[in-house]
Amino acid sequence: MNQTTNRVAIVTGASRGIGAAIARRLAADGFAVVINYAGGASEAEALAAEIEAAGGRAVTAQADVADPAAVVRMFDGAQAAFGGVDVLVNNAGVMRLAPLAEADDALFDSQIAVNLKGAFNTLREAARRVREGGRIISLSSSVVGLRPPGYGVYAATKAGVEAMTHALARELRGRSVTVNAVAPGPTATALFLDGKPQALVDQLARQAPLERLGQPEDIAAAVAFLAGPDGAWINGQVLRANGGIV
Ligand SMILES: NC(=O)c1ccc[n+]([C@@H]2O[C@H](COP(=O)([O-])OP(=O)(O)OC[C@H]3O[C@@H](n4cnc5c(N)ncnc54)[C@H](OP(=O)(O)O)[C@@H]3O)[C@@H](O)[C@H]2O)c1
Repeated sequence: MNQTTNRVAIVTGASRGIGAAIARRLAADGFAVVINYAGGASEAEALAAEIEAAGGRAVTAQADVADPAAVVRMFDGAQAAFGGVDVLVNNAGVMRLAPLAEADDALFDSQIAVNLKGAFNTLREAARRVREGGRIISLSSSVVGLRPPGYGVYAATKAGVEAMTHALARELRGRSVTVNAVAPGPTATALFLDGKPQALVDQLARQAPLERLGQPEDIAAAVAFLAGPDGAWINGQVLRANGGIV
């Protein structure tokens, strides 16, 4: 039995990409995991089956994180399935790029709804429910520090996530709950790769001193550190997991 046995983690946006790698890793570390998704039911079910087949525990939970009622239902479902919630990994996110002069209202509203309001919805519920000793981890992005053109709205949502992380860490004083963010650099998922020509992907991959893209498993390892026993003293921090790009 290890120290995470009987602990329960909700991972939002876990049907694919970084979230799926986090769910897989936390399950391997002994957490019962709730695999949240918006539209990817079959991928989420396949991941839950894979985790169960490997001896872990997993359930799926459809919920649009932008919808506060759906987020409440997801936490209710986690409590019903596993008896409580110890870890929230607030990972669901979308990215739409355009220079501000060319960004339309839909680009702004969709990213605010999922990345910022969605983070608020899940952080609020976690603040109310996570058990003593719990961990709350949100996905930010290294573009908050890199400041590339075209990323203004997306980076603004992630800067907001970092601000809420810092505030919540202080608000939970006395509960032994840590609140942190992990800020990946370019990571090989659909969110990063879709729509980019290979030459641009190669150029971005070379920017970090380690000269490669992050893999979802690299980010999952950073999240697992914060969620597990070794991360207990880290609180109110943003950990940039990015090969040194910024
Ligand atoms: N990849 C990168 O380079 C990178 C870098 C820095 C930060 N990040 C951040 O890391 C996180 C994960 O990104 P990723 O690269 O893994 O993206 P991804 O491959 O596009 O996966 C996104 C996940 O989020 C889910 N999702 C989207 N909208 C949702 C909603 N409204 N409610 C619930 N789930 C929703 C998707 O579920 P469905 O498919 O089921 O809809 C999917 O599982 C995001 O917060 C992203 O901003 C990524």
